Amino acid sequence: MLVNLQEVLSYAEKNQCAIGSFNTPNLECIMAILQNAETYQIPVIIAHAQVHENVMPLETIGPVMVLCAKRAKVPVCVHLDHGESLDYIEKALELGFTSVMYDGSRLSFEKNVENTQIAVKMARKYGAGIEAEIGVMGSSIESTEGTKGEKGIYTDPEIAGKFVEMTKVDALAASFGTVHGIYAERPRLDFQRIESIKDITKTPLVMHGGSGLSREDYTTAIAKGIRKVNYYTYMSREAVLAAKELINKQEGILFHDIALAAVKAMKEDSEKAIKVFYKIH
Ligand code: 13P
Repeated sequence: MLVNLQEVLSYAEKNQCAIGSFNTPNLECIMAILQNAETYQIPVIIAHAQVHENVMPLETIGPVMVLCAKRAKVPVCVHLDHGESLDYIEKALELGFTSVMYDGSRLSFEKNVENTQIAVKMARKYGAGIEAEIGVMGSSIESTEGTKGEKGIYTDPEIAGKFVEMTKVDALAASFGTVHGIYAERPRLDFQRIESIKDITKTPLVMHGGSGLSREDYTTAIAKGIRKVNYYTYMSREAVLAAKELINKQEGILFHDIALAAVKAMKEDSEKAIKVFYKIH
């Protein structure tokens, strides 16, 4: 069933866990995630990032995501990830998305607040939830998001507090050491910062660049206040490895064989993440 961001976040708060938010720029990703969600009977978020517009247009994948969410036997939130323009956010809301992220993190504080306030009004009109970002998330060399090699700017807890008070967002993406894409080296996360931001904002926090971390890092981050983990790169890489293996091993395969192998690999990878995020033993 289709639900909004507030509903899945209240599940996370109640269960002191994090909701997995998985980027789904194709049907294979959607299938992998929803199969796991139904197996474990958990609420999930499927997300489309504006930066994936050239991979898959919002107008094509958006209605598919909404339909799959409606048909699912578990609560599914359909989210716009890193919406950088208000027009794009409006388009997602019109398509039935139940959550949107406005990313004005590269703008001045004042402009970020101003645009986020507009995005909040837009989301509320549709009964959707809203996430925004303060501080800049870094991007590794092999990232489809942000500017490649970009260094992050850690979120200042005081500024985050002011931002949340002025915008009243449902969730806040904060920067504390994770990066989008493949980690070139093991990241060192600033857990104290997560705790301080959580104390001041009293708002569910979002971890971007959420794939590729250790079990301990996830568990500590969740204990400090992370309630949504954005996950994509490492799951997608597993699909590529599975496809490569199949191509090398078997003659005469067709594209649908590769797609099936990709679903299986992404399902297995996201299942491991889900068990940690939702504390499933
Ligand atoms: P990764 O691609 O690093 O897994 O992060 C996903 C993300 O943060 C989407 O916003």
